Amino acid sequence: MHTTQKHSTKQTLRGQSFETSEHEERSERSMTAIVQDRYGSADVLEVREIPRPDIGDHDVLVRVAAAGVDRGVWHLVTGRPAVTRLAFGLRRPRNPVPGLDVAGLVDTVGAGVTRFTEGDVVFGTGHGTFAQYTRADEDRLAGIPTNVTMTEAGVLAVTGSTALQAVEDHGRVRPGDRVLVLGASGGVGTYAVQIAYAVGGIVTGVASSDKLDLVRRLGASGVIDYRADDPLAEPGRYDVIIDTGGNRRLRDLRRALTPTGTLVIVGGENGGRWLGGTDRQIRAKLTSLVTRQRLTTFVASEDAIHLERLADLVETGHVTPVVDCSYPLAQTADAIAHLESGLTRGKVAITTDRTESR
Ligand SMILES: NC(=O)c1ccc[n+]([C@@H]2O[C@H](COP(=O)([O-])OP(=O)(O)OC[C@H]3O[C@@H](n4cnc5c(N)ncnc54)[C@H](OP(=O)(O)O)[C@@H]3O)[C@@H](O)[C@H]2O)c1
Repeated sequence: MHTTQKHSTKQTLRGQSFETSEHEERSERSMTAIVQDRYGSADVLEVREIPRPDIGDHDVLVRVAAAGVDRGVWHLVTGRPAVTRLAFGLRRPRNPVPGLDVAGLVDTVGAGVTRFTEGDVVFGTGHGTFAQYTRADEDRLAGIPTNVTMTEAGVLAVTGSTALQAVEDHGRVRPGDRVLVLGASGGVGTYAVQIAYAVGGIVTGVASSDKLDLVRRLGASGVIDYRADDPLAEPGRYDVIIDTGGNRRLRDLRRALTPTGTLVIVGGENGGRWLGGTDRQIRAKLTSLVTRQRLTTFVASEDAIHLERLADLVETGHVTPVVDCSYPLAQTADAIAHLESGLTRGKVAITTDRTESR
């Protein structure tokens, strides 16, 4: 369990400071935010002044220092695959401010909030974090580990929780298990490699050639360039496969598993315009009913229990967020385009003008 850190007007967290400007203190009710009125490519995003969010009894208003960009953000901005609109809004996004990952400072707490007070530094998820302030449920936040920067904390919650659940809850990786991570250089994969290694797995990571060194440094004892070799070529090789990229056929994934092995499908891009690969996930669950292999999938939850477990793994040095680069809030569209370029190693961060290097 983590104790939260208190900060006053100027806070510092491992090499970064977080300061309140006079102008900010004057403009009490407004904030700069990234807003989208419709689905589309990154150019639908506009920088606007809008009212700060109201909070309910169990909410926290967080002053955003950093926010992570992940594939979910891309799905929200574009409204693709179409199935995602069931969650985000059919014709346009219900919440016009994108962004889920956040790290920052507790500005105000609702009357029923018990876990945090003003001045705590927290990470987790908020309702629209590409803004100077965001509303967060108190149960979707945790105290920031002392050994990371605000920027690192800002890219921790969404893909870190996903990896944690894939490896521990669904993959049930045990010491000595041979674990294959498909998409090992990505947002989920960089955490999955570290967590699988931390729990004693013997990890093989799959990525493109120029990212294999990174994957090795994260704890993989074996690496495979998916453009040069087929990572699923050897039958019965793996006890657990964590699948975050490539959308490989179920039958190929199963062949690479032991007869009682576990496949955890996290996701994968380019899985189709309408369903985005969710059909493969449903087929995996159905097939699992009639085989000794466990074939599963899940929708990740960024709840406090997982966030605190993640924070412990970071605090004890088992997990370090991999930040590829960070962009100022006003350049969020460029940050999303960078993620889309396929060049990213680990995570892309958005920082507000309050997150600065000393
Ligand atoms: N189930 C859930 O709740 C949940 C939660 C979060 C994310 N997701 C989904 O999980 C997926 C991964 O997310 P992410 O944030 O990690 O994405 P990401 O950062 O874009 O990473 C994608 C990874 O896939 C690799 N890759 C691309 N093509 C591949 C191929 N043909 N074979 C093997 N690997 C390949 C990439 O390697 P290179 O860059 O080296 O080419 C990269 O490592 C996304 O589809 C996302 O929507 C699901």
